[in-house]
Amino acid sequence: MITEKELARLSFPGAPKIVTPIPGPLSSKVLKDVPKYESLTRPGGANPPVFDEGLGATVKDPDGNLFIDLTGGVAVSAVGRRHPKVIKTVEKQMGKMMHAIEAVSTRRTELAKKVSGIMPQGLRGKCVSYFTQSGSGAVETAIKFAHHLTGKSQIVAFHGAYHGVWCGSGALTTGDHYRHGFGPLMPYVIHVPYAYCYRCCFGLEYPRCGLRCAKYVDYVLNTPYTAADDVAALIIEPQQGEGGYLVPPPGYLEMVKEACEKKGALFIADEVQAGAGRSGKMWSIEHSKVVPDMLCWGKGMGGDLPMAGLTFKSDFADKLVESSQPGTFAANSLSAAVCITNIEILTDAEIGLTDRAAVVGKEIMARLKEASGKIRIIGDVRGRGLFIGVELVKDKKTREPLGGEQMGNILAGLLNGGVIAVPCGRCHNVIRYMPPLVITREYLEKATDLLLDICRKFN
Ligand SMILES: Cc1ncc(COP(=O)(O)O)c(C=O)c1O
Repeated sequence: MITEKELARLSFPGAPKIVTPIPGPLSSKVLKDVPKYESLTRPGGANPPVFDEGLGATVKDPDGNLFIDLTGGVAVSAVGRRHPKVIKTVEKQMGKMMHAIEAVSTRRTELAKKVSGIMPQGLRGKCVSYFTQSGSGAVETAIKFAHHLTGKSQIVAFHGAYHGVWCGSGALTTGDHYRHGFGPLMPYVIHVPYAYCYRCCFGLEYPRCGLRCAKYVDYVLNTPYTAADDVAALIIEPQQGEGGYLVPPPGYLEMVKEACEKKGALFIADEVQAGAGRSGKMWSIEHSKVVPDMLCWGKGMGGDLPMAGLTFKSDFADKLVESSQPGTFAANSLSAAVCITNIEILTDAEIGLTDRAAVVGKEIMARLKEASGKIRIIGDVRGRGLFIGVELVKDKKTREPLGGEQMGNILAGLLNGGVIAVPCGRCHNVIRYMPPLVITREYLEKATDLLLDICRKFN
């Protein structure tokens, strides 16, 4: 397994290092131009960090402030920013071909082969891929294909889901601010509760609950008069990201899959955020026995260059229509080459980034859980691998989510101390760890020290 010393060389040394109040003068200049020239629909915040330079698990702003990045560009920089092997690949591929039109190209076919070889057992070697540049594109395509393959209309998705924000994927996503006032989005979507054990909507506790939430999915899908009479597919994040960094209990995904099979609905795993090694396995669905019919991927697979895709059972390939889903930039040769390199790094057993994510994630979670006993506002610590959620509450007993103002203060405290983090959760009260998998233990510990110090101030 790669050593801490080797990992340290992949990031800037000496983080965090704050040399100006944030935002500094150069960052302020950029921030002033943002509302003039950029759509406000991008993620906001009063004083967001200004990204200028990045290396591994660290980033710098234009004023030279050096941050530890717990976001990994929202789970994108799995192998870290500007990994030396990625840079070499970019240099080599730039000398050959970058844009290749949506036609057959050496890099695209090589990538399709590579992806086939790393899919979960059951799909591996028996699948084909469609390429696009974003997770939303992968999800939109999955939905379109599911309609065609089944001849049915309805899609089942989950409360707390995030599958993108377009008119199809946005209809599956449940955050109000992504949807409200933007209708009509895609019709025929049914939402059901996810396994959110800390806030079980049935008021039950695992394992005594007998997985009531999974049984409810079965009830909706397979009982007459629930209006789920025309279901093409169910789409699920095997570990839910935006909705709060949730890991469903053992047996949940299997029960949901069984419900789909009874109904004849396709099972689509959205691995855009939790995939690419983050969970401690290449795909988070691999912690269960479920073989998905389709798997959406993106973020960490592309890393420094945009690349996403939909991989599905080869059996479906013949039933789809030739030329029905082209994309101008699909499988850009440069992005494809980088994605191949990322896969090689992530699956290299000697480097062991995925195994390490499992080990280091457990260590950090154990530390957070232990500390939470003495910190009033830490309600729950959960996760798997380097996919960790720390849910903050006003009161441990009532579990009332911590308010927006306090969350804002905590995030600002992190930023001013040199740690970049973004929240998630239905009430935006969950601090998420989704750092590059190459982050050193030292940087993870430093970020955690700061988070705990800030949280202790609420005691
Ligand atoms: C699970 C999941 N699916 C889909 C998407 C959409 O991906 P993109 O932003 O690349 O369109 C995201 C983005 O955060 C995601 O987390």
